[in-house]
Amino acid sequence: MTVLILGGTGEAVALDQHLADQAPEIRAVVSLAGHTSDPRPLNLPVRVGGFGGIAGLRRYLVEEGVVAVIDATHPFAAIMPFHAQAACTAENVPLLAIRRQPWRAGAGDDWRCVADMDAAVAALGSEPRRVFLTVGRLELPAFADAPRHHYLVRVIEPIGDRLPLHDVTVIQQRGPFHPDDEEALMRRERVELLVTKNSGGDATVGKLVAARRLGLPVIMVERPAKPDVESVGHVDQVLPWLVAQGLFVTERGV
Ligand SMILES: NC(=O)c1ccc[n+]([C@@H]2O[C@H](COP(=O)([O-])OP(=O)(O)OC[C@H]3O[C@@H](n4cnc5c(N)ncnc54)[C@H](OP(=O)(O)O)[C@@H]3O)[C@@H](O)[C@H]2O)c1
Repeated sequence: MTVLILGGTGEAVALDQHLADQAPEIRAVVSLAGHTSDPRPLNLPVRVGGFGGIAGLRRYLVEEGVVAVIDATHPFAAIMPFHAQAACTAENVPLLAIRRQPWRAGAGDDWRCVADMDAAVAALGSEPRRVFLTVGRLELPAFADAPRHHYLVRVIEPIGDRLPLHDVTVIQQRGPFHPDDEEALMRRERVELLVTKNSGGDATVGKLVAARRLGLPVIMVERPAKPDVESVGHVDQVLPWLVAQGLFVTERGV
């Protein structure tokens, strides 16, 4: 009886720790897409790489005796949540998604919300600006269409040749980031505009706090659609859900 956790997020890391602490008797596996060369260490066993579409995931569920799937993928993972829904429905495996709340603009924020990365590029405008790009390295090629700007790019992995422009500064760093450090960085780099995905969560919200303090506009890329599946907002709600499925009685009886 295996629980499959679709990971690649802080929630998956937190769930890994939560299950290790609260229910070590539950057998679970964390699945990563394999995009990060040095993922954070986990307690649970890890499998890496795509399943091979819906058919591949269905096969995996059957072969590995998966009794429940937790979709802890990133808010911007646009495909995997749909594959999980289709495969779990077909194999009659219960599925729960952990859905992080999006960030919301508050007083003092100057957000321009756009639907996708091409719209974000268009929203940069025609005047050369100093742009702080925190959209992930895979999204960078879209910005090659706007070479007049200076880009400060923050990524976890090297960007390779994804943004082949001369005026690019790359910072390779993994969050969390404190608002004071974000403000200092934006001042030092004379950032005029921040571009981010609406990922939500605490780890990377500091840049939005800093932008507010500095009165900087933010181009906010909205989330892709997600399938309509049962979901919770916090990792702590997963274990009660697993128990409620009748799949496990933990040592603590919860
Ligand atoms: N997109 C982002 O901004 C972002 C940010 C931070 C972390 N991540 C994490 O990075 C991973 C890939 O993101 P993405 O945007 O490329 O996702 P995606 O568009 O939803 O998925 C693309 C393909 O990658 C494979 N895949 C995705 N998540 C997987 C997982 N947890 N385990 C095994 N295979 C997985 C699947 O391949 P098959 O069809 O072959 O199964 C899927 O069809 C996700 O796990 C996500 O949680 C994404």
